[in-house]
Amino acid sequence: METAGKTTARQTMPESSAFTPLRLGPLTLRNRFVKSGTNEGMHYKCLPTKALLKHHRDIAAGGVGMTTMAYCAVSPDGRTFENQLVMSSEAVPHIRAIADAVHAEGAALSAQITHGGAFNQLSRLSTPRPGSASGGFNASGVLTGRLFKRALTAPEMEAIAEEFADAARLAREAGCDAVEVHMGHGYLLSQFLSPAENKRKDDYGGTVENRARFPRMVLRRVLDAVGRDMAVLAKICVMEGFRGGATATDAAEVARLLEVDGANMLVLSGGMNVQSPWWIFGSAMPIVDMKAREPRWIGRVALDMLKLQQPKDLKFHEMYFLDHSRAVRKAVTMPLGFLGGVASMESVDKAMGEGFDAVVLGRVLLHDPAFVNELRAGAVSRTGCTACNRCVALLNDPAGVACVLRPANDLNLNRIFAGA
Ligand SMILES: Cc1cc2nc3c(=O)[nH]c(=O)nc-3n(C[C@H](O)[C@H](O)[C@H](O)COP(=O)(O)O)c2cc1C
Repeated sequence: METAGKTTARQTMPESSAFTPLRLGPLTLRNRFVKSGTNEGMHYKCLPTKALLKHHRDIAAGGVGMTTMAYCAVSPDGRTFENQLVMSSEAVPHIRAIADAVHAEGAALSAQITHGGAFNQLSRLSTPRPGSASGGFNASGVLTGRLFKRALTAPEMEAIAEEFADAARLAREAGCDAVEVHMGHGYLLSQFLSPAENKRKDDYGGTVENRARFPRMVLRRVLDAVGRDMAVLAKICVMEGFRGGATATDAAEVARLLEVDGANMLVLSGGMNVQSPWWIFGSAMPIVDMKAREPRWIGRVALDMLKLQQPKDLKFHEMYFLDHSRAVRKAVTMPLGFLGGVASMESVDKAMGEGFDAVVLGRVLLHDPAFVNELRAGAVSRTGCTACNRCVALLNDPAGVACVLRPANDLNLNRIFAGA
């Protein structure tokens, strides 16, 4: 009964379906909120630290159904930065410590497994030119002096697919509940999917089906390796956001193929690291902050050039991939995670109403790990994250990624291994 008109609107309304459990293959999540991978940078000597454990424990305690650990490289060449987690038996006890902490808070842990292909800032690689879908000029190599990339051979693709499967097995051994195969944002599998990056003339280039052949081979290898025990997700671009890049029509076709293969959920993102990073975030890149942290003159010039390419009228709005993601929703019946600017209870409910199965949140949880619990309690209805993207400038910070509106991370925690 309402007394003195004090009952809040949320108390009288039925609870959002986003707070109901979600089945993803062999995994059931307590609710439909998933923390998106945000290259946490909380590694020491390429192994997870206590800072990473705290990061994911806080997010789990904050109410999500699942949190995603990123970026988990499937091999040393698969990293994009020097100090990134490489999936190895040495990493297992440290990931297990994180999985235990996340489970103790009632959430699940996913590992985003990935390979950068030609996109990396590594000082050394095992081959002189980085492998990609196609050879030719490598724009991201401007920073490392590796100006050319080369097309992977079929045996190399075979070996990399096996590395993904091995990484998934290690994630399972470490107690992870899911793996997310990264097929978006311009990393290796996305370099195959993108018509702008993939110029191959063989069975792996040309039509959408051909461009998806290698990513699908990786997915199926991962499903064969762990699919009975873990949920296997894939993150794809619903638009690449530049002339010649893949469109929502391409994404719908890719989704149909990944559905046939048996992926348990697709996370629907967009934008590409090199050509259109602003579309990953739906708002402008923090060029001033990025330049201030860039030690290489060539890097600062590259950032100036990026600024020139950035659309001048870019203005953040919630759910910035809605139209594109709808096209994918129409194409498949499998679970889909809606991502991109989910910043309020209204957006969460809108995503549910549009038929998406989960909401996948990045920056709002960097800003406030307890956002989900606060939404549920009706304590807040909207994030305080301003989509300024200054967290992105901290990608290589020694203390790890953080929201600049929050207290800084403890650097000391990023020097102690998670399982120590
Ligand atoms: C600091 C930062 C690091 C990120 N690193 C990754 C990453 O490693 N892998 C990935 O798939 N996406 C990464 N993203 C993108 C997010 O997962 C997400 O797609 C994007 O932030 C849009 O979602 P949002 O509006 O909820 O923040 C990163 C985002 C941020 C802000």
